[in-house]
Amino acid sequence: MNTQSIEPANRTFVRAASLTDLPPGGHLTVNLDGHVIALFHTPEGTFAVDNRCPHMGFPLDRGTVKDCILTCHWHHARFDLHSGGAFDPWADDVRAFPVKLEGGDIWIDLAPRGDSRRHRVERLRDGIERNLSLVIGKSVIAMLDDTGDAREPFRIGLEFGTHYRRDGWGAGLTTLTCLMNLIPNLRDEDRARAMFHGLCSVANDSDGHPPRFEMRPLPGNGASLAEIKRWLRKFVEVRDTEGAERCIVSAVRTGAAPREVADMMFAAATDHRYLDGGHTLDFSNKAFEALDHAGWDLAEPVLASLARGYATGDRMEESNSWRNPVDLVAILEAAFEHISDALALGRRASRSSDQFGRDALVPVILGDDPQAIVDAMLAALREGCAPADLAGAVAYAAALRIARFPVSNEFGDWDTAHHSFTFANAVHQS
Ligand code: FES
Repeated sequence: MNTQSIEPANRTFVRAASLTDLPPGGHLTVNLDGHVIALFHTPEGTFAVDNRCPHMGFPLDRGTVKDCILTCHWHHARFDLHSGGAFDPWADDVRAFPVKLEGGDIWIDLAPRGDSRRHRVERLRDGIERNLSLVIGKSVIAMLDDTGDAREPFRIGLEFGTHYRRDGWGAGLTTLTCLMNLIPNLRDEDRARAMFHGLCSVANDSDGHPPRFEMRPLPGNGASLAEIKRWLRKFVEVRDTEGAERCIVSAVRTGAAPREVADMMFAAATDHRYLDGGHTLDFSNKAFEALDHAGWDLAEPVLASLARGYATGDRMEESNSWRNPVDLVAILEAAFEHISDALALGRRASRSSDQFGRDALVPVILGDDPQAIVDAMLAALREGCAPADLAGAVAYAAALRIARFPVSNEFGDWDTAHHSFTFANAVHQS
């Protein structure tokens, strides 16, 4: 039925049907202004809702009404007929239209209501909190259709992931940030897909975890960044997560430039060898990339979420595989003694970083002689190779290793190759 006459007294109400068309206990669908609307005549009154179930589109006029609750017959989502509110968060609220009965007719108010942007944000939060991929997907598509800007859903995922996982920054936030990095290179139709996968990863990673209660910064602002940096490294040394976290948030609160805070964080993340199989440095780098997208105003919660990894991550100098049969740590400790001199010589070298022989260095890095690798890298620095270019060569070698890795390897072997690359990439990016 399509009756488009408009009541003069209130121009947003549209005549939908005659009361005689809707007997007690009955239902009816009408098509008004592009909306298919289901009308229900119940003992509690006459109600109108969008006929499409917000979950997966089943026609709601084929549902059951009991005690003013409408139940969809496909997956049994239940809706309050007064407001359209759903009792099942995996569905969504259905739009309910105000109804009035006048002159023997049923009138429906089609005027838009509510704040659709706010609703989409709330639904995205619901989806992440309850790990509901369908809700996350629908919300992300709607948000990107609306603004085309992925930063808003990204920020929501970042805030959630840093607060609702006691262990702090993990694989979910890393995946989300990787996909956010890719967004500018993706076609429009793939952007929502990327954001969807990243946010689902955050939801999965936080599901079932207790929240994190953040440390407050130190009162006042007496301590300098240099002091805080020194304290942070000491607290990480003795595996004190809370002391480390308080240093991190206090460092941000000093108002220091992001570059200075990054210097402090990367120092703490590299005082021990290859912390947590390389994850700690990779996560630190991703956290700074996330702040580049989301804004420095989130620096305290985002960077604080790294503290536990710094303090409790496995230190490879304590592992057998880094000590036997070759003592890699001893080789590195000896090399660290020469870095300052090598950099000083490099600054005086006539060769520029552009002339640095990456192609000759990469096969050495991919070889199996750790001492030769370290010697070649120090030699490159002495010849004028910039540290960032040297880090780029290592990352390139790590990527080549993955490209050449035989597919017959087991998952654990692949993980070793992947971790080498993500760590080397983090050094290069940082
Ligand atoms: S379509 Fe209605 S509950 Fe799934």
